[in-house]
Order: sequence, then C-alpha cells, then structure tokens
Amino acid sequence: MERTQPIAVFDSGLGGLTVLRALRGRLPHEDYFYFADTRFLPYGDRPESFLKERGVLIARALEKRGAKALVIACNTATAAAAEAIRAAIKLPVVALEPGVKPAVALTRSGVIGVLATTRTLHSERFQRLVGNHAAGHQVLAQACPGLAEAIEMRGAHSPEVAALLDEFVLPLAAAGADVVALGCTHYPWVAEAIARRLPAGTRLLDTGEAVARQLERLLAAGNLLGGGGGHLTVATSGAPASVGATVDRLWGQHLPVEHWEP
Ligand code: DGL
Repeated sequence: MERTQPIAVFDSGLGGLTVLRALRGRLPHEDYFYFADTRFLPYGDRPESFLKERGVLIARALEKRGAKALVIACNTATAAAAEAIRAAIKLPVVALEPGVKPAVALTRSGVIGVLATTRTLHSERFQRLVGNHAAGHQVLAQACPGLAEAIEMRGAHSPEVAALLDEFVLPLAAAGADVVALGCTHYPWVAEAIARRLPAGTRLLDTGEAVARQLERLLAAGNLLGGGGGHLTVATSGAPASVGATVDRLWGQHLPVEHWEP
C-alpha cells in the first residue's frame, strides 16, 4: 500500500459529503474518492441483507480501485454492514454511529434525542450502543423516513423537508431533549433548520470531526498518512448530471461528478 493512494468514502448519496468536509478540513492534503450510491438511495428503508451485500460489493470494488483506507460515511450502512465489510477487505476501515456516547456526556436533562433512519435505529448495533452507554438515560430514538431522500431530491430548504422536520424534531423538543444526535450523515445539511425547532441551547451532535480524528489515527498507525495532492473525485451509481446539480447546491461550489459502477 502506498501513501499516495486515495481515501475512499461512500454513502447512499450525498450525506457523506458532510463527513468528507470534516475529513478534508483535518487532512487537506490527502486525495479522496467519494462514491454516492444514488441508484439505491435511500438505504434507510432497505433490508439489512441487501445493505450487507451491497456494502461488501462496494468496499471490495473500492479496494480494487486502489484506495488506501475506507470511510463508511453512512450510519445505515455501518449498522447493517460494517462487520461484514471489515471481514471482506484488508484496508483500514472507519465506520460511524450516532453520537450516543458524547450525548450522554453532555446531557443535563437526561433526555437525549437521536435522529436517524429506520434501519439504523432497528439495528442490533444501535440497540447495543444504547444498552452499553445510555443506561439510566431516556433515549428518544426518532426514525426519519423520507428525510434523507427529500434533502437530496427536493432541496434542504424545500417545504417537504420543513414538514418532515416539524414531524420528527418538534416531539423531541416537547419531550425535553437537551442534546440531539444527528444519526444520519444527511442531517447536518439541515442542522440550522433542526436547531430552529429546538429550544435555544440544545446541543446538536454531528460525528464528522470524530471520524476525521479516527481516520488520522488509523492512517498514522499504518504509516499511510499524507502523500496525496488534495485531489477530490466524486462518483455516483446514478445519473451524474442530476447528482452533480445537487452536489453543487449542497457543497456550494462546482464539483465534477462521474459515473462509477462498483
Ligand atoms: N446518509 C445515510 C446515513 O447516514 C443514509 C440515508 C439513507 O440513504 O437512508 O444513515
């Protein structure tokens, strides 16, 4: 493995760009290959067996394409497939999960909100996370079906997204949550709209920074840190033109998008 090889990052769509932003902030000189599996968006309503198979297929293809590390920038794919992916490839793998541990450290009311996909919240991995770290706390696990898809297809500021946020976020405020974990990488795109629906002072937790620190540690341990030129390639299993338009809107700057089939 060479230090000059890119870091692969994948998600069901463009939520993982919120993680990529944190990775590039911390490790700006690395090269990145970002893959949005748009053809299968949303992952959140798909069966675990499908996500496991798809996750392993993507991870193997990214390894073969020449990645030096893999970041699973998707809570849903992590919940369903992280263990299978780690077993299937030789690359260092960074996975992410809703910030239940930091939420427990921060809460004063003892009431924690978690916004995530249905698949993430129903996973064994999430149940274990809550069982191991949130004993004695009230965890409001709020599934948000349709939200990731609406952010991409309708736009972060669309009436559809606003209606879904009213439905999913207002009950957390009513129940007294003072910390809310954004347990899906799409949700940081609407963090301000979420914050507006919660009392002032409510903490929102995004895991991008923690993922970046973990990636840096793993690369350093494998003597794989540095060596790139800060280059970014964005690819999708969907239609590059329409995905590209959404990338430009969310990222706030034009990024070319190519087609890639794992
Ligand atoms: N961005 C993804 C996550 O972090 C999943 C969104 C979806 O495809 O349902 O869970």
